[in-house]
Formats: sequence, C-alpha cells, structure tokens
Amino acid sequence: KRILLVNGPNLNMLGRREPGHYGSTTLDEIVTGLTKVAEDHQVSLSHIQSNAEAELIDAIHAAEVDFIIINPAAFTHTSVALRDAILSVSTPFIEVHLSNVHAREPFRHHSYFSDVAVGVICGLGADGYQFALQSAVNYLNRADE
Ligand code: DQA
Repeated sequence: KRILLVNGPNLNMLGRREPGHYGSTTLDEIVTGLTKVAEDHQVSLSHIQSNAEAELIDAIHAAEVDFIIINPAAFTHTSVALRDAILSVSTPFIEVHLSNVHAREPFRHHSYFSDVAVGVICGLGADGYQFALQSAVNYLNRADE
C-alpha cells in the first residue's frame, strides 16, 4: 500500500517557525520518523512539501496512492482548488494540523477539507502525524478485509 504525505506552505520552516504554535521538531525529523513507522507496516510513504498551490495540486493529481495525509497549512483556510484536487482523485485522506486551529484566530476555524476528510487531527503537534499514519494503516487494513 502507498501513502502520500502532503505538507503545505511554510511547513519547510518547522523547527524555526513560531515554535509556540508549531513546536521545535523539523519537517525532516517528522518525515524520517514517519518513514520508519511506514516501513514497519510495509507501507510505502512518499512526501511532498511545497509553498506553491499549483505544485501541491499537480502532486495530488500525479500520485497513485491509496491514502493521503495532508497538512494544507494556510491553504486549509483558503483553497477551494486544493480541496477540488483531492476530491478529483477520490483518495481518502486525513487532515493534520500541528496547532489547535480552533484555539486560534477565527479565520483558522474554517477548513475547506474537514467535511470531506476521513478524520481531522489538530493541536497534538508532531505526534498528530504519527497518529494519522497509524490511523491510515488501520483504515487500509480494514479496507483489505
Ligand atoms: C497549520 C495551521 C494553519 O492555520 C497555519 O496556516 C499553518 C499550519 C498547523 O499545522 O497548525 O501553516 O496547518
């Protein structure tokens, strides 16, 4: 089985970026940790991070995967185009946010993804990605039964 991890704009700055909201773990550390867990479950994990909406959309179109884990970052709150991209490939996905978006500014309370996601994880920092991966593996195993 194949899972694509998608990280949106500014997440390349993790570790340095507003650590009060996003913690001190870097994106490299997150991806390395997830790749190990994926290997343990015999799942192949690919990853894209981009600051450009079009690149994220193209990567989703091109991905031949069974599941997507996505942190759309600021595009969560703005991008009908990214929502449509993920719907266009009919791939189930989990939405992840490091910070608890509901405890922050009102403009972060709405997501263009949550109503079409399998589930949403927010506020648990980098751990949220691990929980999402475990959940994705469980989802794919159930689908196999
Ligand atoms: C974020 C939350 C978004 O509101 C913000 O724009 C981000 C990161 C998070 O992981 O907490 O860039 O998706």
